[in-house]
Amino acid sequence: MKYHHLVVTGGSGFIGSHFISHVLGSYPGVRVSCADSLTYAAHPDTVEYLAKLSPERYSFHRLDITSPAFSEFLKTSGCDAIVNFAAESHVDRSILDPASFVRTNVMGVQNILDYVRSQPSVRLVHVSTDEVYGTLSPTDPAFTESNTLDPNSPYAASKAAADLLVLAAQRTFKLDITITRCSNNYGPFQFPEKLIPLVIANAIEDKPVPVYGDGRQVRDWIYVLDHCMGIDLVLQNGRSGEVYNLSAHEERYNIDMVHKLLGILGKPTSLIQHVGDRPAHDRRYAVNSAKARGELGWSPKVTFEDALTATVQWYLKNESWWKKVRDKKFFEFYQANYTNKFEGETKGARVL
Ligand code: NAD
Ligand code: DAU
Repeated sequence: MKYHHLVVTGGSGFIGSHFISHVLGSYPGVRVSCADSLTYAAHPDTVEYLAKLSPERYSFHRLDITSPAFSEFLKTSGCDAIVNFAAESHVDRSILDPASFVRTNVMGVQNILDYVRSQPSVRLVHVSTDEVYGTLSPTDPAFTESNTLDPNSPYAASKAAADLLVLAAQRTFKLDITITRCSNNYGPFQFPEKLIPLVIANAIEDKPVPVYGDGRQVRDWIYVLDHCMGIDLVLQNGRSGEVYNLSAHEERYNIDMVHKLLGILGKPTSLIQHVGDRPAHDRRYAVNSAKARGELGWSPKVTFEDALTATVQWYLKNESWWKKVRDKKFFEFYQANYTNKFEGETKGARVL
């Protein structure tokens, strides 16, 4: 590894925590400082797990990336690279409260850029998403890095805004920054509001499984560790000012994915409940990752079948992990704030 001390922002969330485990496990000479404000998306057990993994090379700092305290921390950290995962990441929540997405996903990123501008030797990898490209028709070719940004949700728009700020800062101030745009991730430790863990958890508890609209939307799925390996290669070898798409080219209809998960779990399809559609729901994502594969020698290591089955097994074996954030208190909070709020749009009830 080229770098000795990484600051990983948002490292207590789903992908960031896998990335930190990967770095600590793969590079004995590397230190990691995780900066995370611990929103609802940071599971307490994940925070504890990382703290125990390699205490001599890992430190945790409860910091909001939009805050002056975070800027002060960066100044004294002595890091030589930053990998930014911190974000509000759930599309449905962005429809209910767009401002919180602008705050973290745009203002927070600008705060990081201000620091990197003051320390141009520090390398930055900004973790973005394929959602910035918008939606595809069934016959469109997959998104490449040169597609125009055309986001549809407040989440995607906030990520696209950040991407533009990042690229502008890189060009204007000649900074060492690279962007990744990955497709839909799945794996252990994903918060059970996202499709795959939500379906698994509801099915295990014999609760209805909500499918938005006709379920014929397409997502391009990748196992979370394959994404992390891609970020690692981009960090070390990605060219400054460039964007790298990452994907495993595993497109699936949502409804097929739900059937597949119920099949693995041995649960009946009668659990499926078609509910009202997400407003401005992107119909299809598909990502062309030829640039990362060709330039960086990256490719996914696991097959969709193996990784999805292993993921289901993990949620079966770790019920206490997801039950902790689906307990009564959390459920009431979720009900009060996030359920049935797409007024005039949602015909059915969403079930956590
Ligand atoms: P997540 O919601 O699981 O984790 C986000 C983390 O960021 C949490 O630990 C949270 O506490 C932290 N955070 C939020 N606001 C913060 C703030 N103001 N200051 C500091 N920390 C803050 O998200 P994820 O799924 O792990 O996604 C990580 C990144 O990857 C995001 O930038 C997301 O846009 C991007 N991404 C996600 C996917 C996916 O399928 N999940 C795909 C492509 C890209
Ligand atoms: O493409 C990358 C993006 O993937 C990331 O940038 C986002 O952070 C991440 O949340 C994810 O966004 P999606 O909106 O695609 O993921 P989500 O798991 O919310 O939904 C996947 C698909 O399943 C989507 O078409 C909506 C649908 N869905 C989702 C939920 C939660 C349902 O049909 N029912 C549900 O209950």
